Amino acid sequence: MRLELPANTERFGANTFHHIQKVFEMDGGYEMDAEFSSPFHIIQQISREQIYHIERDMAIVIPVKNERLRLLEGVLSGIPHDCLPIIVSNSQREPVDRYRMEQAMVDTFCRYAKKRYVIAHQRSPELAKVFRDGNYPHLLDENGLVHNGKAEGMLAGITLAHLSGKKYVGFIDSDNYFPGAVFEYARLFSAGLSQSRSPYSMVRIQWQSKPKIVDSELYFAKFGRVSRITNHYLNSLLSHYTGFETELLRTGNAGEHALSMALALRLDYSAGFSIETYHFVSLLEKFGGVIPSPFPEVMKSGTDIYQMESRNPHLHDADKGNDHIKEMIEYSLGVMFHSPLCPENVKKEILQELRAGKIIGKNADPVLPRRYPALVNLDFKTAARTTDWQRHGNFIPA
Ligand code: GDP
Ligand code: CO
Repeated sequence: MRLELPANTERFGANTFHHIQKVFEMDGGYEMDAEFSSPFHIIQQISREQIYHIERDMAIVIPVKNERLRLLEGVLSGIPHDCLPIIVSNSQREPVDRYRMEQAMVDTFCRYAKKRYVIAHQRSPELAKVFRDGNYPHLLDENGLVHNGKAEGMLAGITLAHLSGKKYVGFIDSDNYFPGAVFEYARLFSAGLSQSRSPYSMVRIQWQSKPKIVDSELYFAKFGRVSRITNHYLNSLLSHYTGFETELLRTGNAGEHALSMALALRLDYSAGFSIETYHFVSLLEKFGGVIPSPFPEVMKSGTDIYQMESRNPHLHDADKGNDHIKEMIEYSLGVMFHSPLCPENVKKEILQELRAGKIIGKNADPVLPRRYPALVNLDFKTAARTTDWQRHGNFIPA
């Protein structure tokens, strides 16, 4: 791959946030060109070896809830062979057992492709057992099963990736129409992570565009309403502490992202669709130097947060409605509003935004989504003893 170097950065305590990087060529060529190591170059070449090394150690978690099988199959076909796909499904079991259909399709696909995979139903007792045995009850509901929600499926995915011995974990939605885009995201994960000298790194993807039909013409929109609002307030939060206005953060709602396992296990998470915005809040709270950090090793090495702009447009399953958008805005701003780091003036602006947009009532505060403490608190050794994750084709039936 040939990529722009991340020219600008913002630092906040031990965190380094890198400016959006542009992809020049998705494939950077077989030979390494020595000229790129010149300090005057603005482009870097990432070798195939660097990319393959990371892919071999990376799991790609695919959250699924009642998506069309054809889309899920397309997503699988875009995942590089060396990555381990982990499908965490919360699809319906009745009256039609969609999960069984997904299981059968994934199994056939991976047999033909001759690759290992993991699939689990989010509400299965077998998956719940991992968290019970690992003494991490936070993810379990009153029935003793993993809570519903996308974030909850993602936490289960991180856990299964760690149990499978992976050093990196990426996330790609299952409702993507373009396998070529999926392939590019996976490559960007590896290219992005390969730049970091710290064990604690993350890559977040900004889509080049999101095509829509406007007046029967294709229109390539850049930012959706949710991202525009989320990024604005994240930047306000950052600017408050650095004292310099910035627009550097552009990926507050990036569903497509990847983390080193060391960082994934040390962040706190929040429920549902607020998880992606909360990544930033958790980074600022835990490693920003304002609140004492529970992880001095991270404070020492620092974190590297990369943002990359994909070349492929992002086309996913049709709009899920205005209520979904309002909920996403409330949750994304809610996690910032309730952070002990959020200054009064930003809180005030968030309230104005939500009240003016009729997202919350005149006197209401935004919701505080449920929080999940860092997964390092899970006893992986005990959890690993009770299930064999290393078999070919791991099923967790429901
Ligand atoms: P949007 O793209 O942000 O509008 O959100 P989507 O509704 O497309 O959800 C993103 C991804 O998460 C899709 O792949 C969904 O199938 C998946 N998803 C949504 N809810 C859940 C859930 O409760 N559990 C799991 N495992 N996946 C979910
Ligand atoms: Co979607």
